[in-house]
Amino acid sequence: MTGPPLQRLEGVRACVFDAYGTLFDFGSAAARAADVPEEKRAALTALWRDKQLQYTWLRTLQNRYADFWQVTGDALDFALDTLGLDRSLRESLMDLYLGLEPFPEVPEVLRALRARGFRTAILSNGSRAMLDALVFRAGLADAFDAVLSVEAVGVFKTHPKVYRYALDTLGLPAKAISFQSSNAWDAFAASDFGMRVVWCNRYGQRRERLPGAPDFEIRTLAELPGLLAVIA
Ligand code: LAC
Repeated sequence: MTGPPLQRLEGVRACVFDAYGTLFDFGSAAARAADVPEEKRAALTALWRDKQLQYTWLRTLQNRYADFWQVTGDALDFALDTLGLDRSLRESLMDLYLGLEPFPEVPEVLRALRARGFRTAILSNGSRAMLDALVFRAGLADAFDAVLSVEAVGVFKTHPKVYRYALDTLGLPAKAISFQSSNAWDAFAASDFGMRVVWCNRYGQRRERLPGAPDFEIRTLAELPGLLAVIA
């Protein structure tokens, strides 16, 4: 039998979420692309995502920021070429990326958190326009107090400036923020920065050998509300 957790996160006032893979299913783009052969969809999703992330880290190291729309398009070109898929698929896949499906529990979790007085926000590598499209198409435009794009700081995760941007915008200390990410590397970095972190390990990833230690590991966001102590 699984009961409530022995400990809850105390003093949290805002829940800040990573977008891609945490709130929104990046696999839904290739899965819904009728022209991508079914047997290549999983490989396309994986390579597209891997390259996209690599480019964010490399561009940050090189001090050569370009927004996530460009990075995502460049990564898609690389993946299509590698898998022998036609470049004519690019436009429809990029459009699907603007309308990724939220994971099923997301609308209800956001509603429940706000009903309990928690502020909700997105903190994502996504460009402002991409994030606005995502929340709008998912019908979640009113579910967030803030939608924060790294565009404002000109570097990608895991640069500390990104996590600091959330503190500055929300006007809260790190310990008053619970950050949720499905990306282990993002979860560990936010923890190292000082936030409380709930690692939503949807993909069954291994723990990173990096600084930081998430406070909790869950499988879906449905477990999150039960981890948060009532706001004092
Ligand atoms: C984001 C990516 C890293 O939303 O998932 O920032």
